[in-house]
Amino acid sequence: MGLFILKGAINMKKIILTGDRPTGKLHIGHYIGSLQNRVRLQNTGDYDTFIMIADQQALTDNARDPQKIRNSLIEVALDYLAVGIDPAKSTIFIQSQIPALAELTTYYLNLVTVSRLERNPTVKAEIQQKNFERSIPAGFFVYPVSQAADITAFKANLVPVGDDQEPMIEQAREIARSFNTIYGQKILVEPEGVFPEKGAGRLPGLDGNAKMSKSLNNCIYLSDDAETLKKKVMSMYTDPSHVHVEDPGKIEGNMVFTYLDIFDEDKQKVAQLKEAYQAGGLGDVKIKRYLNEVLEAKLAPIRKRREEFAKDISSVYDILKDGSERANAVAEQTLSEVRAAIGVNYFS
Ligand code: TRP
Repeated sequence: MGLFILKGAINMKKIILTGDRPTGKLHIGHYIGSLQNRVRLQNTGDYDTFIMIADQQALTDNARDPQKIRNSLIEVALDYLAVGIDPAKSTIFIQSQIPALAELTTYYLNLVTVSRLERNPTVKAEIQQKNFERSIPAGFFVYPVSQAADITAFKANLVPVGDDQEPMIEQAREIARSFNTIYGQKILVEPEGVFPEKGAGRLPGLDGNAKMSKSLNNCIYLSDDAETLKKKVMSMYTDPSHVHVEDPGKIEGNMVFTYLDIFDEDKQKVAQLKEAYQAGGLGDVKIKRYLNEVLEAKLAPIRKRREEFAKDISSVYDILKDGSERANAVAEQTLSEVRAAIGVNYFS
């Protein structure tokens, strides 16, 4: 009886699915935007958590550079483990090792129109940013559909991601809804996005650009050593009209204060510094040194854990293999329900 109740409770756990494209190491923008959130949700113990390294999605615009994806995959896995994603609590797995995802994508593609895909604002922005114009890889163009497969294969209720992923969740919801309507069964779950708190949504780059991004070369990586971190902080964009220490300085658009607002828990201290900076008499070097201390305190333990895991890469691959096997079983189950609903289960 007790066991029975326990089993019921376990089955009622909400399911979380999220992931990242392995195109490089993860940076502190990823940490603020979603990693932190994932660790928090994982540690509540209230969810079944799946975290996917989306190597197939990364290949949609890197088909000619598979080595980059292969190398980045292990870096991302190390970043996950370093920030506290715990393989005993979360299933970490690799997208390409789950064949059911590709098959689900095939069925879902028929439920989506080309014009709907063309309207996806995130894909639109990426197409511009990557200068694809008319030479968009077809796989890239349809990746929101494959992402819907990632999410629905696990019947995920919640998808913690950055704000830029909102259109993907919306498309996944539409696809799940269409599928259930057309095939007359409630097999797929409509997911909900879990987004960062307002203001913490997007960390700007060191240079003041609205986005921290590898291609803009304005990142602090989770794996940066103390020396690199310090150099980067000392090079940050502040207030270009704040030439002399005595001059009053601006806070708005000043990256040091933007970062302090996000990373420093001592809000009173930040308020004092802001006041002094605006009044004049507080130099950039001082505030940068202080920010460096704040960041170093946050990043040193992450860096240390990362170094520990990096000493034994084969055990990191073991974690990924084990996670992929577990994830595969779940996705296969959903696929068999999907096949049955469509009626392509001829031999069973
Ligand atoms: N598109 C996501 C990104 O660029 C990665 C991703 C792939 C993902 N599949 C997913 C995120 C499923 C959440 C759920 O970061």
